[in-house]
Amino acid sequence: MNFYSLVSPIESPIAADRQGAKRHYGVHPYFTRRPYNVVRDYILRYSQERDRILDPFGGSGVTGIEAFLENRIGMHNDINPLANFIASGISELHKGSLDEYEDGLTYVEGQCRYTLSRIQRYDENQLAELKETLSLPENVVLPRNSDAKRYHDLFSLRQLLSLAILKEAIDSITNEPIRNGMLLAWSATLAKLNKTFLSAEGRAESRGGSSIFSIYRYKIAKQPIELLPWDTFHERVTNVIKAKTEIDRAIQLKRQTGGWFGSFEIYSRDVEDLCSEFPNSIDYIFTDPPYGGHISYLDLSTLWNSWLGLSPSTDTREKELIVGGELNLSENVYVERLGRSIQACVRMLKKDRWLSIVFQHWNPSYFEAILSSAAESGAELRAAVSQVGDPIWSMHKKKNNSVLAGEMILTFQNTGAVKKLRRNGHFDVFQAVKQILDNTHSNHVFGEYLFNRIIIEAWNKSAIHSLDMSKEDFMDLLKQSGWHYDQEKHYWAKDRPHQLEPLFTSA
Ligand SMILES: C[S@@+](CC[C@H](N)C(=O)[O-])C[C@H]1O[C@@H](n2cnc3c(N)ncnc32)[C@H](O)[C@@H]1O
Repeated sequence: MNFYSLVSPIESPIAADRQGAKRHYGVHPYFTRRPYNVVRDYILRYSQERDRILDPFGGSGVTGIEAFLENRIGMHNDINPLANFIASGISELHKGSLDEYEDGLTYVEGQCRYTLSRIQRYDENQLAELKETLSLPENVVLPRNSDAKRYHDLFSLRQLLSLAILKEAIDSITNEPIRNGMLLAWSATLAKLNKTFLSAEGRAESRGGSSIFSIYRYKIAKQPIELLPWDTFHERVTNVIKAKTEIDRAIQLKRQTGGWFGSFEIYSRDVEDLCSEFPNSIDYIFTDPPYGGHISYLDLSTLWNSWLGLSPSTDTREKELIVGGELNLSENVYVERLGRSIQACVRMLKKDRWLSIVFQHWNPSYFEAILSSAAESGAELRAAVSQVGDPIWSMHKKKNNSVLAGEMILTFQNTGAVKKLRRNGHFDVFQAVKQILDNTHSNHVFGEYLFNRIIIEAWNKSAIHSLDMSKEDFMDLLKQSGWHYDQEKHYWAKDRPHQLEPLFTSA
């Protein structure tokens, strides 16, 4: 028996640590970043040192970076240039010394701090004059649902010029790792110095974020706040340096205890194309594909891709796994591609290796695409864990109720036993929900936990296709069963509670 056949799957949720790692939090925002400790625990359970760990929908690089710090070959892939810019920026922070970073910051300060403070007092004419001397990004058209029509409309002229001045200074740094580190901080500054920045109520003005990451749209703030460019950049560099210090320390610790030999590789392919490059060669995949049309990753990344000179080609845009978006890609195409992406993942795995897919949506046919494609490609479902109660997701739940708050982690093993699927099973969803609720020893339950269980039970009975229940039907069913939704805690509570201990509590 080899290591992989002896693995016992992770069967329970892991509490998310949303603050613990500077390398992922605070350096640069991205959409739906996975909690690093959950990802790391999965990597450690399902793989060994020196294994090739792939995340084909890698986003900001959490999987690849955790793998690389844990002495594996972290293979990061994403079609979004911004995702790859962040992932490669973080993974390269171990290069160069802290002193060099400090020197880099001093250099940028010397090049532009004085000008940045002077232009705070410039009138419109002086700003217009300065504009002629600077290189600005192309004034591209923004997605139709944006409040601003064109790229430059996202900024006040002062913000645009300040960012251009900072970037010019950074581009002139000759030491490559330091230039890249400063550019990462500049790109994080870009997220704050534009009119989509919304201040968080009751906190310092600078605490807050862009509407791009909260409501997934270029919404212009009613009263845009203009943060001071130098201070904002300085704070971002401080975060980058903290992340570097943490990465250096993690690597140092490995060196002292057996050696560090992790590596990081970066790819920018559509998942299906990646498969022809790496058939039968990966040891573990941990990934979360886009959940339908929830977030238009490429459209929303225009703010960065455009100024960084990384705009994706039309061909790349057409390959995005999404429902809708600027190209208005259809749901049928999404479901088909989702299924083919999972097949591609299984084909890339070596025999007996494991694959974890993080997913959540109210549409059972998306789950069916994942589960059927895996089974038909020879991967057996070995665990389905609901990561319920994560407070960050509860916030998403408030804002966008088409996506559930607790994602499910589906883990498969590539046994090679191809399943012929039946689609003729019978499943009584009302009965199943009632049974789960009756057997729940708790006064509250997360809707997504319940929904996830229904999905898996229906799948096991070859009847997932028969789940044509809407979210509203599901809610009515819970209400009829004597449960109500707690708006504050974001879970379902029993109308007449009994005295037992809760089974699932918030993380
Ligand atoms: C849910 S996010 C992953 C987030 C990531 N787990 C993290 O922690 O940052 C999904 C990613 O899939 C990427 N994507 C969409 N279509 C793709 C495709 N056809 N091939 C590769 N990546 C794709 C998006 O750009 C996005 O970054």
